Amino acid sequence: MRKFLTVAVLLAILVAAVPASLVGAAAPLGQGEDYTVQADDWLSKLADKFYGDVNAYWAIMSATNKANAEDPSYTKIENPDAIEVGAKLRIPSNDDAVAFMADFDPAEGDVSKLFASGAGGQLLVGNWWTSGGEFAGVNEVYKIYRQEYPDVELIHAGLAGGAGVNFKAANLNKLIAGDPYDTFQLHAGLEAELYDPETFLQPVDDILEEAGVLDVMPEDLKSLLKIRGNTYTVPLNIHRGNVMWTNTKVLADAGIEKAPETFDEFFAVCEDLKSKGVVPLGMGIADGFELAHTFEVVLAGTVGAEKDKGLWNGSVSWTDPEVATALENFSKVLDCTNDDRGTVGWVGGIDLVINDQAAFNIMGDWAYGEVIAKGALDRVTWNSPPGNQGMFFLVSDGFAITKDAPNPENARNFVKIITRKDAQENFNMNKGSICARTDCDYGVFPEDRRAYFESSAADFAVDAIIPMVTHGSGAIPSWQDQFGQIATQFASDRDVAAAQAALVLAAEDAGFPQ
Ligand code: GAL
Repeated sequence: MRKFLTVAVLLAILVAAVPASLVGAAAPLGQGEDYTVQADDWLSKLADKFYGDVNAYWAIMSATNKANAEDPSYTKIENPDAIEVGAKLRIPSNDDAVAFMADFDPAEGDVSKLFASGAGGQLLVGNWWTSGGEFAGVNEVYKIYRQEYPDVELIHAGLAGGAGVNFKAANLNKLIAGDPYDTFQLHAGLEAELYDPETFLQPVDDILEEAGVLDVMPEDLKSLLKIRGNTYTVPLNIHRGNVMWTNTKVLADAGIEKAPETFDEFFAVCEDLKSKGVVPLGMGIADGFELAHTFEVVLAGTVGAEKDKGLWNGSVSWTDPEVATALENFSKVLDCTNDDRGTVGWVGGIDLVINDQAAFNIMGDWAYGEVIAKGALDRVTWNSPPGNQGMFFLVSDGFAITKDAPNPENARNFVKIITRKDAQENFNMNKGSICARTDCDYGVFPEDRRAYFESSAADFAVDAIIPMVTHGSGAIPSWQDQFGQIATQFASDRDVAAAQAALVLAAEDAGFPQ
């Protein structure tokens, strides 16, 4: 089985109908009883054993979670891929399993049925925060919520896939199907357009107003939030999209004294490291957003902040010769990466730096969340990617409330917590981002990591701020998609002229004659 709510990915391929084997199964030993997880058990294997059907693990998950609500000696299963040895499960009777599966449609992302409901109902939180650092961050917000609303069953509906690559489509499907989460993660800015906000989302202007948060919200962020006069996103953080994570030990062992700043320096260091058998730039591209992300950073590093902004606002044409130079630089950057980059995602990319297997990784500072979660603060430091000095790629995560939220009051209380300084500090010190408010005190962050947050906040105050396209803030969703496809195609064919022509067309499609 793959990761939970990876569940929702699986959801799409699982059958909703009750499997024949389940209906007809004779009750083997253990049905209707408790079961303690042994080494080498996993839920679908148990479902196969008890019901002759691997998909019936949903029924075990639901029964165990409902038992847990009454008796905490049962294990609460939030992630069916990670059940621990010794966990106490409730194995429902065959009839109960049949009844559950008859009513449960995994293709609909029916997560609410997998959990108990508290006296205060449920709170379904849709998001894509499933990596170690990502979950550590959001879990801090959950802790506050659970403490203040103990009667509500909060459900972390996390669907794996960095930058929301899987989540966004699944979420949109749920909205259209009339089966929305109560609240869900989205990027501040134009990403809200994806969800037809007037139809599917609730404006949150009153919540931001009452929380007094607008007085302390950075102007660059505030200006991204309004869509046709309304705000639909309660922001939680500001990530920096353009960081080059550097393993100081790998560099020192290779006799390299300082991280490169320009492309020329970077390519020279790259050759040097390669000749010593070291991977210069660790990269994972399997999530699907990483190539676009890297190209966006290389593009700005090549053309400079002003021209980069111009490309996205229509004042500079994509026929500009420096766009071709950027593509050439991108191609050379890709030649500095590990050959197996297609087999891992963004987490695998930063892991290469964390595990001393590569010198650098270009990624947003959610990668710092992994560095923190994996205890690598002693060896991983940060630099600007080539040519990116003085630029800050703004990526901001927030939460929206759905118009037909099944638990609207719970959703409002959740986003109210998100506006708060204590919630943002606790979240961000694990996530790698700075607060979406200017009054957070990074001096209270743990000493081993506070320097990064202080430097990010200091840079945010003075750098050129560039809303990042690959993370929903810098362009309309269709342009973002096309840009991503072009970067991906280019990474395999390396055809500069074709990629530039496609970039020109994409800008025209987005309404900017070239
Ligand atoms: C970004 C998001 C971050 C981080 C990253 C990788 O789009 O803003 O919070 O989660 O994706 O998933």
